[in-house]
Amino acid sequence: MQRVLALETSCDESAVAVVQLQEGEIEVLANFIASQATEHARWGGVVPEISSRRHLEALPDLIAKALNDVRLPLSAFDAVAATVAPGLAGALMVGSVTARTLASLHSLPFLGIHHLEGHIASVSLGDKPPEPPYMVLLVSGGHTELIEMKVDGSLERHGRSHDDAAGEAFDKVARLLGLSYPGGPAIESASYGGDSERFVLPKGRISLPGGGFHPYDFSFSGLKTAMLRKVQELETKSGHLPISDLAASFQKVVAEVLVERSIRCTLDQGLKTLVMVGGVAANSKLRELMQERAGIEGIEISLAPKAFCTDNAAMVGAAALKRLELVYCTSSLELGVAPRWPLEQANDFYKQKPPF
Ligand code: KG4
Ligand code: ZN
Repeated sequence: MQRVLALETSCDESAVAVVQLQEGEIEVLANFIASQATEHARWGGVVPEISSRRHLEALPDLIAKALNDVRLPLSAFDAVAATVAPGLAGALMVGSVTARTLASLHSLPFLGIHHLEGHIASVSLGDKPPEPPYMVLLVSGGHTELIEMKVDGSLERHGRSHDDAAGEAFDKVARLLGLSYPGGPAIESASYGGDSERFVLPKGRISLPGGGFHPYDFSFSGLKTAMLRKVQELETKSGHLPISDLAASFQKVVAEVLVERSIRCTLDQGLKTLVMVGGVAANSKLRELMQERAGIEGIEISLAPKAFCTDNAAMVGAAALKRLELVYCTSSLELGVAPRWPLEQANDFYKQKPPF
């Protein structure tokens, strides 16, 4: 049995979790999140300076709550883990320094975790964790990627967004419609009862140099511009915006693009399982459409549980448990943080001489 205390502070959620691995199953014993979303909403997006300060204020209380909840001292843990990349440097630093301090004081190993590895591991917090090989659609506020998880644990990226991430598109379009931040949940709520067929919107594509389009890549900036034009046109014509119809039409086209390209990629790579993780994977319309279309193609779908789609520390703990289980990995206490770092190079976090 392995037990990990995990921290996540890469953006605007301060999160602490206790997870343990027993007989191959990951169990979440405690999971606390302090969201700063309402504070950042005033500015229409995350303010890095505010984010770091709030993490600093929130973490001690969250850690105390988690330990109190599981009624265990830190000596009963096998490791302390924290997200170290990618994200806001100051925010990551708060979680990383806190984790390294606890690890050092209690003579526990420390594991630096890649945020996207955490998102991918969130699917193992569900009822039926998938076994590699499988395709992963990772859709969050910062990333939209199609990554193949191979049997040996190595990764291959097949598709990505060339401009905005899907979550970012939700956030920007929500702002355009006068809805709150974060935009994903706001658009989802506004879409209920709306007519998703009312507005025909473009499915952004990436041209290939030799002609045709990249089958697995994404572009959401054209869609965002199309929404802006539609809003301006409606405002000029009638002075009134049919928010529900606009939200439903936008949500539908994003869901269709994500589902169509992920399924095509999964089939083309000869894989039978498609996994969906990240904040946008919490979207009900997207989850439904993914299940429906995958069912038609005979692809098995594994969705991260809704509660673990948006940023949380349980997913960071799950990634740490996998690292401890596969090849016993620990990070140097000198490992710092990096605002950008490729997922494919996450193994470097466990080198004796840290990369940053
Ligand atoms: O994974 P996440 O919490 O943070 C990042 O790593 O980026 O994802 C946050 C993103 C935001 O852009 C938010 O608008 C979007 O996920 N999101 C949603 C929903 N819930 C969160 N997008 C669509 N529908 C939702 N229900
Ligand atoms: Zn995230």
